[in-house]
Amino acid sequence: MRIDILTLFPQMFQSPLGSAIFKRASDRALVDITLRDIRDCTHDKHHTADDYPYGGGAGMVLKPEPIFETVETVKSDIDSEKANDALPVILLTPQGRPFSQQIALELSGHSHLILICGHYEGVDERVRAHLVTDEISIGDYVLSGGELAAMVLVDAVIRLVPGVLGSAASPVDDSYTTGLLEYPQYTRPSVYRGWTVPEILLSGNHAQIAKWHREQAIIRTAGRRPELLDKVKLNSEEKRLADGLRKN
Ligand code: 6GU
Repeated sequence: MRIDILTLFPQMFQSPLGSAIFKRASDRALVDITLRDIRDCTHDKHHTADDYPYGGGAGMVLKPEPIFETVETVKSDIDSEKANDALPVILLTPQGRPFSQQIALELSGHSHLILICGHYEGVDERVRAHLVTDEISIGDYVLSGGELAAMVLVDAVIRLVPGVLGSAASPVDDSYTTGLLEYPQYTRPSVYRGWTVPEILLSGNHAQIAKWHREQAIIRTAGRRPELLDKVKLNSEEKRLADGLRKN
């Protein structure tokens, strides 16, 4: 998978992209991330990427030309028109559709993504209207720029690319893939400061343990995110458990 990230602050990505999952994905040549400094496509001597809003108002607006030109540079490398038409050009903005595991899964199926990090007070509307194919927000709060949001999106997407996670770890059991929050986990020691690990986990009975995991996931979801339970497929016993928890 190829990802091009357009930003005014490429240096913000340096440390994250050099660590953990990002590094693993790059080292294994499964993901190729290119940072594109929007300022490289400005043509005046001050490298102006933003300007005052027409009609007045607070703050600055990102100019359209450097963003269009950077995207066109990326697309000019691709020889198939069909690939270009299918290529998502995503603007990270608080006005976008709310990011979710479902969207991460959808994006992980593409071989190439272009991400545009919005900044300052906004982006010239013509970028939205004539360049961008999708707009994504990572939550209902305001960040000073789209960079951190882009990193969140890239993390969530690339861990779904086959081979990026080790074979032992699988995204199939993730919260939001099963639709349930994860069950509580324990590791050694079995007694810590007098606090014990649930006996069942030490029993070696894999069927009982799997059942316990599932029940605990339901209990945790009912307590913290009851609205998620409505979308999960439960067997009749699990349904009774969920209904009982909901009543309390
Ligand atoms: Cl994608 N960008 C900014 N600037 N703020 C946000 C956001 C994105 N998602 C939530 N808040």
